[in-house]
Amino acid sequence: MCGIVGYIGEQQAYPVLIKGLHRLEYRGYDSAGIALINPEGTLSVNKAKGKVAALEALCADKDITGTIGIAHTRWATHGEPNTTNAHPHYSQSKNLALVHNGIIENYKSLRAEMENHGLSFCSDTDTEVLVQLVEYMQVSHECDLYTAVQLALKNVVGAYAIAILDRRNPDQIICARKGSPLIIGIGKDENGKAEFFLGSDATPIIEYTDKVVYLQDEEIAIMDRIGRMDITNLANVKQTPQIHTLQMNLDQLEKGGFPHFMLKEIWEQPNALRTCIRGRLNVVEKDVLLSGIIDHKERFINANRIIICACGTSWHSALIGKYFIEEATQIPVEVEYASEFRYRNPVIHSDDVVIAVSQSGETADTLAAIQLAKSHGAFCYGICNVIGSSIARATDSGTYLHVGPEIGVASTKAFTGQVITLALLGLAIAKEKKTLDEQMFHMLVDELQQIPDKMQWTLEHNKHIDQFAQIFTYAKNFIYLGRGYNYPVALEGALKLKEISYIHAEGYPAAEMKHGPIALIDEEMPVVVIAPKRGIYEKVVSNIQEVKSRKGKIISVVTEGDTTVKEMSDYCFEIPDTRDCFVPLLAVIPLQLLSYYVAVAKGRNVDQPRNLAKSVTVE
Ligand code: F6R
Repeated sequence: MCGIVGYIGEQQAYPVLIKGLHRLEYRGYDSAGIALINPEGTLSVNKAKGKVAALEALCADKDITGTIGIAHTRWATHGEPNTTNAHPHYSQSKNLALVHNGIIENYKSLRAEMENHGLSFCSDTDTEVLVQLVEYMQVSHECDLYTAVQLALKNVVGAYAIAILDRRNPDQIICARKGSPLIIGIGKDENGKAEFFLGSDATPIIEYTDKVVYLQDEEIAIMDRIGRMDITNLANVKQTPQIHTLQMNLDQLEKGGFPHFMLKEIWEQPNALRTCIRGRLNVVEKDVLLSGIIDHKERFINANRIIICACGTSWHSALIGKYFIEEATQIPVEVEYASEFRYRNPVIHSDDVVIAVSQSGETADTLAAIQLAKSHGAFCYGICNVIGSSIARATDSGTYLHVGPEIGVASTKAFTGQVITLALLGLAIAKEKKTLDEQMFHMLVDELQQIPDKMQWTLEHNKHIDQFAQIFTYAKNFIYLGRGYNYPVALEGALKLKEISYIHAEGYPAAEMKHGPIALIDEEMPVVVIAPKRGIYEKVVSNIQEVKSRKGKIISVVTEGDTTVKEMSDYCFEIPDTRDCFVPLLAVIPLQLLSYYVAVAKGRNVDQPRNLAKSVTVE
């Protein structure tokens, strides 16, 4: 949700910043801007509505020299996406320029106060209020920029990650964060000269250095050209930065020959899951090892209840996790929308285990849910993909997905990574609690090990979906049906379709059809049914009959070799047989491919769908 990049060093800043913006474009892409201080000491700001490419076109005939700069790609919260509201924003005197990710909740009262002091504003944004406030503090307290930033931030309510330049000091960038992520990269250029990079995540940094500092809430950092970095908190207490080494490589951030990141990430799933289970699933000794629970076994064994908090796709994987963990461990599991949980005064006991599931580890609502659970003394466990993310750091322990960076806005490999990680967690707890008999435990371990190969088969077997996706571009609505473990898959299939093709789609438990949604069925309505030859197969077959007799178009996901449902279907995708609880890992693959190819056939921008951003760091 908005991307920030910054650079100070001896290199030209513009190419670093533009490349960084491209890498962060998945976080927001309605406008972009860049601020540079050139060698003559001019602070220039260039901004364009639309994608980063529009900014590049604008800058083609501008002075883009300078070895210090900040840049931003926006996902609008306050004020419509246009050039005026794009970041960076100047202060009144144009001595300062600031980029911001987050929301300043009291910006209206701050703005009114400053207007009373004679300041004028040109945008509708909370960000302009922030930069004006910093300058107001600088002037009224006759202090340096650092002190002014500190004073300003003490007056704001809300979340922020900011970077700020001062025309009068071209050797320094100041940045700060609270509730929105910011990472500082510490590098050396080819002449051994110190340089610093800033990023909302590590993707704009990894090309230059793998040494990073994750700025903590309420910390302010000053980076200067001679390689000095000072970090203090809002209370002016000096902090000792912890330097981390990034575990990511550049190839993971490229499309690798695929037309879109989404398709690349769909095809990456077998290998991503192999990495996810490596060292955790031991088929020889029939064991599951999750380092995140080793020191906390008692919390899990004695848990009265598990609550899983998540949003969007992660909420769907959490629902699958609930079914599995309850079945395997006999611990009651509740799944909560983090955005509801955090505001509804939930009952949380100190013997609850609260699990946050989040690809980015930065989703504001999920983070807030965890903070709430912690304040009630619950043990908090994070299942995140992004290493060092806010949720990973806010939780008591956790497990990383290790599926590699997910760049496509529509989540694919993170979903399957989350499902398999929750299965590992369920098995690890079941082992400690001895709630599964040995034979069943061994069988599940063996079956889980085979999932990546079965996934590969599923991908190869269903790659022809591109040939008939065109047929469905007429549809205004889709219905997705599934039962048991496949109900969340129906929800996920529907979400994938709507977010990238803009076709309205709903997922339902198949048996709920007759309680209302069946009224929607006619010969125009494509109905996707997940109908593996497992569990309550016969019941699902009856549900398909109900749709067919109302002339709905059946698109089914069936177990390889099943002819019954195939014959009832207009289109059919096969998946290999697996145990009920692991079907979602395979059944979701044709649904991901279907949504991808329908969106492509409709000419949609698959990796950057309208109105969406990858990481929702605002509530
Ligand atoms: C859908 C999608 C979103 C995210 C949701 C939570 O494809 O990506 O629904 O799942 O915004 O994000 P994380 O998992 O980063 O907390």
